[in-house]
Amino acid sequence: MAIEKVGVVGCGLMGSGIAQVAAQAGCQVTVREVSPQLLEKGLQSIDKNLARLVEKGTLSATDRDQVRGRLRGTTNLDDFKACDFVIEAIVELLPAKRELWTALDKICPKQTIFASNTSSLSITEMATFTQRPDRFLGMHFFNPVPVMKLVEVICTIATDPKVFDEIVAFGARLGKTVVRTSDRTGFIVNRLLVPYLLDAVRALEEGVASVEDIDNSMRLGCGHPMGPLTLLDFVGLDTTYCISNIMFDEFKEKRFASPPLLKRMVLAGWNGRKAGRGFYDYADPAKPKALQLT
Ligand code: CAA
Ligand code: NAD
Repeated sequence: MAIEKVGVVGCGLMGSGIAQVAAQAGCQVTVREVSPQLLEKGLQSIDKNLARLVEKGTLSATDRDQVRGRLRGTTNLDDFKACDFVIEAIVELLPAKRELWTALDKICPKQTIFASNTSSLSITEMATFTQRPDRFLGMHFFNPVPVMKLVEVICTIATDPKVFDEIVAFGARLGKTVVRTSDRTGFIVNRLLVPYLLDAVRALEEGVASVEDIDNSMRLGCGHPMGPLTLLDFVGLDTTYCISNIMFDEFKEKRFASPPLLKRMVLAGWNGRKAGRGFYDYADPAKPKALQLT
């Protein structure tokens, strides 16, 4: 089955990027948010990205208009009923995902393939919210989606191998390098990345060094494009907090446990760059100001 009509649920950091790359690959894309305001915000971030590509000369204005013409926003889940493939990128909370998949399973035809972009939840468990575990898998993109070259495609014990191969091919069609992985919490990247990010918060909490010195160390000492605290702000502290709780619940290992500082920052709403404040204050986005712990 050729995947032409793609549904993306959630138009936040990840959903907007996934919708953009699918439309750039020639698919007809319907993207859903919970409110017109959030939908508008997500579509504006896509417009900004496309405008940047036109400015750089990577995309012509005509192609930009065609990409934009293939993208349709909605707040109505019923608009997914003609989709060949639906990918979910909503908040990292199982009850929200359960409600969504239960509803989508009733709306979409039996042949529609479902994928979750979850960072840490079990794909197998999500598949049980539907009547199509054989057509359910994980497709885990990286932030920012239009730039990061990788996608992890995740097979459960119930996924039909033909469906898996189809989505591996679809990942390549989106211009990504695909890695195949199984449904183990955190898959490949987050299993390795999340303990590192949490350790950076622990180092800060324990007074090892300042926010800037921790970030500069990993940037300049190890050649990472961003220091870990900048990366946490970029990923979202709320999302990382959910991921860490899910991974700790699975492995019961201290390295996945959420540091108290991370929890408190999330409670305070300091969710990182998208909230204007996290380990840095982004009041002036050109000059983020590092958090000073007293
Ligand atoms: N959306 C789209 N494009 C973006 C972007 C965004 N949010 N931010 C930057 N870009 C583009 C820029 O337009 C630029 O494009 P060109 O090279 O074509 O000009 C390119 O990315 C580089 O941008 P900049 O020069 O402005 O900045 P940079 O060199 O610092 O790169 C970065 C920005 C690509 C984000 C880089 O800092 C980076 O790779 N950071 C690490 C990101 C990372 O580790 N992501 C994975 C997070 S973990 C995850 O996603 C999984 C999970 O489950 C939590
Ligand atoms: P985000 O907070 O930026 O966006 C989530 C969006 O989903 C919000 O705009 C919210 O309004 C919307 N939403 C919630 N319920 C919805 C519903 N029922 N229908 C439609 N929209 C709904 O979060 P994000 O960073 O884009 O993360 C989304 C998913 O992608 C999570 O599962 C996360 O773990 C995963 N992920 C995140 C990253 C990252 O770096 N942030 C990377 C890879 C995977």
